[in-house]
Amino acid sequence: MKRKVTKAIFPVAGLGTRFLPATKSIPKEIMTLVDRPLIQYAIDEARAAGIKEFIFVTSRGKSALEDYFDHAPVIEAELKAKGKKDLLDILYQTDMDSGAIAYVRQQKALGLGHAVWCARRLLGDEPFAVLLPDDVIAAEKPCLQQMVEAYEEVGGNIVAAMEVPPAKASSYGVLDIREDMGSLVSVKGMVEKPKAAEAPSNLAVIGRYILTPQVMENLDSKKTGAGGEIQLTDAIAEEITRSNNVYGYRFRGQRFDCGSKAGFLQATVAFGLARPELHDEFAEFLGEMTQVRKAAE
Ligand code: UTP
Repeated sequence: MKRKVTKAIFPVAGLGTRFLPATKSIPKEIMTLVDRPLIQYAIDEARAAGIKEFIFVTSRGKSALEDYFDHAPVIEAELKAKGKKDLLDILYQTDMDSGAIAYVRQQKALGLGHAVWCARRLLGDEPFAVLLPDDVIAAEKPCLQQMVEAYEEVGGNIVAAMEVPPAKASSYGVLDIREDMGSLVSVKGMVEKPKAAEAPSNLAVIGRYILTPQVMENLDSKKTGAGGEIQLTDAIAEEITRSNNVYGYRFRGQRFDCGSKAGFLQATVAFGLARPELHDEFAEFLGEMTQVRKAAE
């Protein structure tokens, strides 16, 4: 019988240099889409998929992230005294069970694979999820939940995948497809950041994974790959030859790359429009802006 996926790793030790100067003092994961930090979207998605233990791989300067998941007694007392029940409810939605969160440090940003490896002692011989909070996915059924359902069918290693234009493939890990089964594809190769002409397909890996413990063992070798970094993609790709159990999963939903400024702005617009209390005013403003731009052209 397949073990349930109950643990998730959130690698958040990167420097977030694309958002300088903000990221001098604010962890990227605390930046807000409308009024919720990026990390909250990832936590909610993981919870919906049945995750019970949340492992953050952090680094120097990320204490705001740890505080975010702590209680906020001063704010709570103030809201209680003023009878602001709605705001209290919003505050309580971010509560985590005692002991559900663990933090480990990645002392040097040696790559995503290395960040995941830093969490090895907190995992047993069990499958685990990895979520990159930079990737925010708007979906009717949360992306990781879709993947857990696929995992319950086929097991193995599952990476979330989406079609990208060939010119963009060089920013991603790209799948070489053995068999296309619809939502699931079985994978015969994975290349991290290929040159456009060398991309084996247009199916790119994004930041959601369900992985077997063997991938963690593969990371023990600390081999460096593309960009001189220890790549998670390489450790997953090793499983293709060893166990032939790597799948891509075409999730249903829209992914926003909130690690980039353009993606972050697009997500802000999409999530702002999705809020009933903001929709009308915001849509009107966007309509006016489009007209102003057209007039200026
Ligand atoms: P990115 O490639 O987006 O790097 O990492 P970054 O440092 O966060 O951002 P930029 O490129 O400097 O703007 C993708 C994910 O992997 C994590 C990051 O925190 C992010 O969630 N990561 C990356 C680590 O935890 N450790 C690393 O050594 C590298």
